[in-house]
Amino acid sequence: MSLGKVLPLSTGNTIPQIGLGTWLSQPHEVEHAVEWAIKAGYRHIDAALIYQNQDEVGAALKKVIPSVVKREDLFITSKLWNSSHQPDQVERELDLTLSQLGTDYLDLYLVHWPVAFPPGNGLFPKHPSKEGEVELDTKTTLVDTWKAVIKLKETGKVKAIGVSNFTNEHVKAIVAATGVKPIVNQIEAHPLLPQDDVVAFSKAEGIHLTAYSPLGNNLQGKTKLVDYPEVKEIAERLGATTAQVLVAWGVYRGYSVIPKSVQQERIISNFKQIELSKEDYEKITAIGKSNHLRFNIPITYNPKWSINIFGEPEEAAAEFSVTVQ
Ligand SMILES: NC(=O)c1ccc[n+]([C@@H]2O[C@H](COP(=O)([O-])OP(=O)(O)OC[C@H]3O[C@@H](n4cnc5c(N)ncnc54)[C@H](OP(=O)(O)O)[C@@H]3O)[C@@H](O)[C@H]2O)c1
Repeated sequence: MSLGKVLPLSTGNTIPQIGLGTWLSQPHEVEHAVEWAIKAGYRHIDAALIYQNQDEVGAALKKVIPSVVKREDLFITSKLWNSSHQPDQVERELDLTLSQLGTDYLDLYLVHWPVAFPPGNGLFPKHPSKEGEVELDTKTTLVDTWKAVIKLKETGKVKAIGVSNFTNEHVKAIVAATGVKPIVNQIEAHPLLPQDDVVAFSKAEGIHLTAYSPLGNNLQGKTKLVDYPEVKEIAERLGATTAQVLVAWGVYRGYSVIPKSVQQERIISNFKQIELSKEDYEKITAIGKSNHLRFNIPITYNPKWSINIFGEPEEAAAEFSVTVQ
């Protein structure tokens, strides 16, 4: 069974270590997924406005609260989308998320990306002249947005605030300008992208990390991490699934992990934690020593965002860098 472990946040609250991801869950899938997950013992649901399925997540929550779980025993995360980074848009979008989810507060609200789009022109505003590109808002800074997110705390609508896809430099800049640390940074992390620098910095600063794409989401059509021979060998030996091994790798590193599935069996088994020995942890870590792979690089998206966020080789040709302040 799952150890059902929770980890401390610097707010004094806790976050359940394993959560359910909801990205790329198709309509009609995610409602079942969330219901099955909560019935299987998950208490942490990772949502976002951009997943365009929060109304279904909300429908599932309505089915299980309070018969299966009390609202206060759930940990619900959502994220501010890029087209609402402007300070006058921030609370409006939070309200939309709350109404979609059917709750009057979030346990955690994250700035989804360190990238702003202009408001009022859809979720991916078309670039006025460049086909296949989104228009960026390079005037609204990370500090502007973070200040507006900080103000949300006074509304009682968010218990904790944080960021996602922020590098250490982005975090340092918003903290230097406001004195307010994000409680959480949600980043892509798996054996092919261990992000040791972000892990070390966040630990030193008391910022909790949540690892997304822990199974190595396969958007780029490359070999899935669940299919790597090293992962398979350990899984077979431990009588576990490869996904359980990858979740356990993240758990071993001390952060929270949010695997996504819409399949009931997988939802149940992904939550059944196994523990890795140091030797097996190191074997999996070794996979990444010669293979660096970041799956989520917005300049490779369609439409593309011409911005250098992480300093990956693919981003070298980007027109813009992140507007910090
Ligand atoms: N902050 C951000 O910018 C950001 C970016 C990406 C993701 N996220 C969050 O993190 C969550 C997880 O990341 P992700 O969705 O990118 O990828 P992931 O959880 O690493 O992988 C999901 C993929 O693995 C499959 N899968 C699930 N369980 C499996 C199992 N036991 N065996 C084999 N395959 C399995 C899923 O298919 P089935 O559904 O068919 O099982 C799906 O194709 C997202 O859903 C989202 O909530 C956040």
